[in-house]
Amino acid sequence: MPPGQAELIQRASDAHGLLCLLTDKVDRSVIEALPKLKVISNMAVGVDNIDIKVATEHRIPVGNTPDVLTDATADMTFALLMACARRIVEADHYVRAGKWKTWGPQLLLGADFSGATLGLIGFGRIGVAVAQRARGFNLKVIYYDPSAKPKHEAIPVGMEQILREADFISLHVPLTTETRHMITSDTLSKCKNTVILINTSRGGIIDQEALYDVLKNHRILAAALDVTEPEPLPANHPLLTLDNCLVTPHIASASQRTREKMALMAAQNLIAGLHGEKLPNCVNPEVYT
Ligand code: NAP
Ligand code: GLV
Repeated sequence: MPPGQAELIQRASDAHGLLCLLTDKVDRSVIEALPKLKVISNMAVGVDNIDIKVATEHRIPVGNTPDVLTDATADMTFALLMACARRIVEADHYVRAGKWKTWGPQLLLGADFSGATLGLIGFGRIGVAVAQRARGFNLKVIYYDPSAKPKHEAIPVGMEQILREADFISLHVPLTTETRHMITSDTLSKCKNTVILINTSRGGIIDQEALYDVLKNHRILAAALDVTEPEPLPANHPLLTLDNCLVTPHIASASQRTREKMALMAAQNLIAGLHGEKLPNCVNPEVYT
């Protein structure tokens, strides 16, 4: 189990460097209780578990692990999309429950890929890698990300157009005060009732109560969540009662090689910080100016 704030402070009280996981909440109380701290290295690309503003105030560089997990996360996004669209988990349960009696023309029908529209919200490293995979499936890709340039034939559009036109929507924004609960009952009400929503970014991007409501009432087709709020999602959570909601335990970057690269990159950031050198991947480079 991850340490709570008090244990983290107690165990790291003498530390010059902190190599943390996304489950460690490194907020003002932690940063200001560790007087010797020179570097924070997160073994993740997302840094929403760390108060970057406070770290910067104290001139502490924060490292993360971009790029090395992009392909693995994009692969998992596609795996979740296909699993949802073709009802793989439901079909497996059907077979195991002894319900498979014969081939049927209407049995477990799913969504078509070819010619469908994929809407990406966030078109940075991972969003772009998902668009690249989508080309192989003959999907039309549209994206909403005001600062991103078009790539892989993906078309920039407004958020409203994504909601209105997408058959599949996939979220790839970081969790910030701006993106928290970006997906609400209002946004979901503007989607097609056949839309499939995939989230491999952070659980806090979606208002989960609103999502439960639309899934339960079949106002959208399905959702697949690799990230939830909270994590872990309790086994008795209402979302887990729904056949049209697939949940995995935050494993999008969990491939052997990717995790090795993330660990190495996190160690390199930590060691550079301890030596007073620039971190190879620093999210707050303004600490150096
Ligand atoms: P990235 O390259 O920084 O891409 C994020 C993109 O979202 C950026 O282009 C950013 O634009 C854009 N964006 C920010 N706010 C937005 C908004 N309100 N509306 C539309 N676009 C917005 O990050 P990445 O490497 O692709 O990773 C994305 C996120 O995925 C991470 O932050 C992390 O939370 C999550 N992740 C999860 C897993 C997992 O295991 N499930 C694995 C890896 C990553 P600006 O640059 O202009 O801000
Ligand atoms: C995983 O969620 C990451 O941000 O690396």
